[in-house]
Amino acid sequence: MQDDLIQKYNIPGPRYTSYPTVPYWDHDSIDPGKWQQTVERAFSESNASEGISLYIHLPFCESLCTFCGCHKRITKRHDVEGPYIDALLNEWDSYRRLFSAMPRIKELHLGGGTPTFFSPDNLHRLIDGILQHSTLAEGSELGLEAHPNSTTREHLTTLYDLGFRRCSFGVQDYDPLVQKAINRIQPFERVRLVTDGAREIGYQSISHDLVFGLPHQTLGNVIDTINKTNELLPDRLAFYSYAHVPWIKGTGQRGFSEADLPRDEAKRALYEAGKKLFSELGYMEIGMDHFALKTDSLYQSMENKTLHRNFMGYTASKTHLMIGLGMSAIGDSWYAFAQNEKTVPEYEARANRGELPVFRGHLLTDEDRLIRQHILNIMCHFETSWDNPEMQFAELDQSLRKLEEMKADGLVRLEGDKLVVPEPARPFVRNICMAFDLRLMRNAPETRIFSMTI
Ligand SMILES: C[S@@+](CC[C@H](N)C(=O)[O-])C[C@H]1O[C@@H](n2cnc3c(N)ncnc32)[C@H](O)[C@@H]1O
Ligand code: SF4
Repeated sequence: MQDDLIQKYNIPGPRYTSYPTVPYWDHDSIDPGKWQQTVERAFSESNASEGISLYIHLPFCESLCTFCGCHKRITKRHDVEGPYIDALLNEWDSYRRLFSAMPRIKELHLGGGTPTFFSPDNLHRLIDGILQHSTLAEGSELGLEAHPNSTTREHLTTLYDLGFRRCSFGVQDYDPLVQKAINRIQPFERVRLVTDGAREIGYQSISHDLVFGLPHQTLGNVIDTINKTNELLPDRLAFYSYAHVPWIKGTGQRGFSEADLPRDEAKRALYEAGKKLFSELGYMEIGMDHFALKTDSLYQSMENKTLHRNFMGYTASKTHLMIGLGMSAIGDSWYAFAQNEKTVPEYEARANRGELPVFRGHLLTDEDRLIRQHILNIMCHFETSWDNPEMQFAELDQSLRKLEEMKADGLVRLEGDKLVVPEPARPFVRNICMAFDLRLMRNAPETRIFSMTI
């Protein structure tokens, strides 16, 4: 892509794990009672056919990686584990009481923070407690995020025996200077040990998270990291653009200076080099930021058009109800979003009182759900259409004017009432979604709230 287009389109923009995006939620539209009603409705509409998803947030990490944008709590005290699991099981009990039948779990994801901060015994108690009162839907996928440095063979076997078959390891970059700047020393041999171990145990889909745009990162580092990654042949790869958001993350992202960060064309070159190499190595691009081997379920779901995107990122199948358990976890009932309390003590206190520990959320309007569908179509399938009147909305003309400009820049093809994102323009997919984002168009942010799109 030309440098002038990168300059023009590298602007702050959402990553669209939800629509409306979190800063545009109308908190007055919802309270725990309304959230509960939408959960009951979504459950009864979808449990028997597609099942439900469960995201469980395990927020603790032993040390702070100074690039991290996740919701985490840094502590070396492992006595936090037991009370936190008690609260998660209490929260799950509160949800179970709302369900009219036994929940069928299609997808269960342990995210963080660092799920492998918890001992295998505690993870066993958690999953056992959840599965005691639910069944696994056909083709269910259970997965976890794991930090290679804290993952033991016992973690992996314990979760495998409970049904886990997917595991994603945080890798980021193998260069010692980059690792020092992000305070995350993690040798290749350690990643090899856990990746090979997971495979021996029987995990079917192993993923590595890589990040481009990190402090001191050069083209050579990215190529070397990808070549090392290829030796371990993970089934999936996430290749995230470093989101530099120090205004949200405070001192957490200040372990280096802004001048150490590759920017604009230099950052884009890291992505382009990575993408080219992945393709040469046999990885297929999936939506935004993700690559997978053709044998992996994520690739197959893209081919079958069942690929979905939610707060967990890309998923192989769509469920209308996703329950988020744990501090700061976000649930999605298709009709509403709800986020839990953001501190551990507040979360635990409310969950242990038998409340749904929701502190904010958003009730989607009919228009929100329509725009959400367009944005999902673009993020998952790189196309959307409005030939059906049900897919048209009030400010379509305004969106089309923006799309015409993008067409002139080669970012989209317009074929009648259909938009297609051509292959070379995929890095601009966030910008293209912004042309449909009515809430952003009506009320542009006055201060910086999103990371840069490129
Ligand atoms: C919750 S972490 C992964 C699990 C585990 N805590 C670990 O670090 O290995 C999820 C992933 O988010 C990505 N990530 C975190 N902060 C990011 C940022 N500021 N920009 C882009 N990606 C980020 C990293 O690739 C990280 O592996
Ligand atoms: S990258 Fe992972 S281990 Fe590091 S602080 Fe973030 S969540 Fe914790």
